[in-house]
Amino acid sequence: MVTFVQTFHLSYQQKINARSFGPDFLWGVAIAAAQNEGAYNVDGRGLSIWDTFSRRSGKIKGGAKPTEACDFYYRYKDDLMLVKALGFTVFRFSISWSRILPEGMGRVNKEGIAFYHKLIDECLQLGLVPYVTLYHWDLPHELQKNGGWTSHQMLKWFTRFVTVCSEEYGNNVKNWIILNEPMGFTSLGYMLGMHAPGKTGLGNFLPAVHNAALCQAEGGRIVRALVGKANIGTTFSCSEVIPYTQKEDDILAAKRADALLNRLFIEPALGRGYPQEENFPFLEKLHLYNKAWKYTERMKFNFDFIGLQNYFPITVKYNALIPYLHASEVKAATRKVPHTAMGWEINADSFQRMIKRFWLYGGVKEIIVSENGAAFKDELVNGVVDDTQRIDYFQQYIAAMLRAKKEGVNVNGYLAWTLTDNFEWSEGYAARFGLIYLDYKTQLRTIKNSGYWFRDFLRQA
Ligand code: NOJ
Repeated sequence: MVTFVQTFHLSYQQKINARSFGPDFLWGVAIAAAQNEGAYNVDGRGLSIWDTFSRRSGKIKGGAKPTEACDFYYRYKDDLMLVKALGFTVFRFSISWSRILPEGMGRVNKEGIAFYHKLIDECLQLGLVPYVTLYHWDLPHELQKNGGWTSHQMLKWFTRFVTVCSEEYGNNVKNWIILNEPMGFTSLGYMLGMHAPGKTGLGNFLPAVHNAALCQAEGGRIVRALVGKANIGTTFSCSEVIPYTQKEDDILAAKRADALLNRLFIEPALGRGYPQEENFPFLEKLHLYNKAWKYTERMKFNFDFIGLQNYFPITVKYNALIPYLHASEVKAATRKVPHTAMGWEINADSFQRMIKRFWLYGGVKEIIVSENGAAFKDELVNGVVDDTQRIDYFQQYIAAMLRAKKEGVNVNGYLAWTLTDNFEWSEGYAARFGLIYLDYKTQLRTIKNSGYWFRDFLRQA
């Protein structure tokens, strides 16, 4: 019986290809300015918090810096050709705020503006649909000096940035993503101090969360007002949270982690205010905002789509030593389940459940999987990167997405993370997520076997 089920599962997986998703399904790749562009100090660009954080923190593997990254600023034409060659039709990238507004506010940098015009034009010429992320974690350093995401001025700063971008690019770009994973940058950057700007504690985290929730909705309103026929989304990271045992303590720990990881930003966006979770004093301060009608309204925006970003589920158990949350993760390696080089559990069924769960919220009109992918220890041997584990990962996750679609979820796009190996934040250049292998010394690109797999998968559409 087991053999039969496994065989069936396998042959089912092999049969699917892009065509199984219908002709309108979007297939693309996603990148981000700070992770790919490099050229950190040319053509008038101001510094971002990742430039300064990487210089001083000692918190990035190998002391890596995003100064050159994938040199995308100079090689974007080649990279777009590769996107095209692999058969994708959507290209998601982000705009570096400090390239456009070197001080974060005030003066506009014409050369920065020009770069994204060239990039967008090139996409359009190649028939690639641009999806533009407004904020992918690279706040201008000048704004961080004044508190960054914790500052009550954040809304004003963000309004300026979004206004400039919408007015400049709105004629040619219709698909906009307001924030990339607000839970990611507020928790890692303003609570745990692992990401730029390296701030810690609730005193930083809670205001950062609130300002991000406000900017997320306000950004949507600005693009709606300034860009005709805009298709507006924002992205949420999500990870199913599984209790380690069925003991009550573990179950409650999982609920707290779930409120934080999966509910903190979507619920205010849907107009429900911050998540209400019993026994979780951590969130009480935010609940004060729920009581103020103006905030509940201002954090709400009628997004045309939400971008879901899912990589792995987490298993948690009660842990009295962890402040506020009283929960800690039981790693995939400890539980001896399949995992990637990041230590992230590979579990496509969990991906299917999360897609369905976000859909069942009600009020979500369309889901685009705006990121999904995996890092493995890739090696370039005689010009070949035989990354079978990544192919297997994509096969499993894409099949799970199809199951969710067949269950009635309006999921209409999938953007693989990512095009080339790139600057993976605090992992530096150690984690390779690309469909294309990057030799960081020579900038030579080599399509991995997973890239060729994708090309064949898409060709059959
Ligand atoms: C989420 C982030 O948006 C992206 O920047 C990052 O590289 C990937 N996940 C992988 O960690």
